[in-house]
Amino acid sequence: MRTDAAMVRRIGLLTGGGDCSGLNAAIRAVVRRAEQENVTVYGFRDGWKGVLEQETEVLDLRATRGLLHRGGTALGTSRVSPFYEPDGVRGVQEAIEVHGLDGLVVIGGEGTLSASLRLHQEAGVPLVGIPKTIDNDVAETDLSIGFLTAVRVASEAADRLHSTAESHDRVQVLEVMGRHAGWIATHAGIAGGADAILIPEVPFDIDRVARHLRHRAGTGRDFSVVVVAEGAQPVPGTLDLPESPKDEFGRPRLGGIGHTIAQELEVRTGFESRVTILGHVQRGGTPTPVDRIIASQMGVAAIDAVLDGAWGTMSAIRGHEVVRVSLEDATRELKRVPQSLYRVGEVFFG
Ligand code: F6P
Repeated sequence: MRTDAAMVRRIGLLTGGGDCSGLNAAIRAVVRRAEQENVTVYGFRDGWKGVLEQETEVLDLRATRGLLHRGGTALGTSRVSPFYEPDGVRGVQEAIEVHGLDGLVVIGGEGTLSASLRLHQEAGVPLVGIPKTIDNDVAETDLSIGFLTAVRVASEAADRLHSTAESHDRVQVLEVMGRHAGWIATHAGIAGGADAILIPEVPFDIDRVARHLRHRAGTGRDFSVVVVAEGAQPVPGTLDLPESPKDEFGRPRLGGIGHTIAQELEVRTGFESRVTILGHVQRGGTPTPVDRIIASQMGVAAIDAVLDGAWGTMSAIRGHEVVRVSLEDATRELKRVPQSLYRVGEVFFG
């Protein structure tokens, strides 16, 4: 369905799920492009929470000034989902009615975008999506906002750990984020010259990793850097991982596998092994230029989609271009690290 652009007067904007760098650049782009078309943007606070509580403010040029280079999200965010709140779907519809909105622009990761698709398909909510997640696991887009900034932080950490590993003849285990997909670990591992990369897509055998580090030592390299994604999994039956505590939404709160890996490698190799857990450092700070650029591209494209009445779509990056894809395709399954990329990292494990 094509909406007459002149008919679009007001839209709502929210950021949902975990924060990351580049969200503010996307907010700024949405507002600036909307202003060009005389569309008023209502920014909701804290993701779906602010929609349900109707906590909103009008965003204009003034409100978005100076945002481009700032980390985090000026709108705030939360993991609240309308599908887990009493009368949540009705609450979203009400917020749209009360504010006279023509639709919503939703910036989020897999969880937020999946909820958006359901709202669109099951309740007819007009909305378009923009992908953001440092995990880079949203399908149909080469990049999600925040990923490249996280890779920059993680690969710089790998570089720093390399020099200290070499000076002290130690094993340095670097744990990075990546719940279901090991994009950060693979990219930072390749960029940072890791000697082993452990990711959720490729179950690891700790004995094999230990053998490999001993082999390195046997060829005169007495230090190693191992990059592990927080969601990496051992080959079944080879290693027991401690159970993760749950967050308020019942999701495992990951983080800490690096400790187990370092301990087990020390026991198996006799090499002193230390761990660094990067955690939320990867999500904060100033976005890389490319994160700012893709956030700007996708923010502008989201308003173009709104003006075209292309509800149920998501802005996506393919090469250097921004394209429009269906939210259904983007959320059908997670985008995982392909073997072809992981194999590039493996070449340097020797
Ligand atoms: O989904 C992005 C992500 O950064 C994951 O890599 C990580 O497991 C999760 O968010 C952590 O979420 P929170 O900060 O809410 O604990």
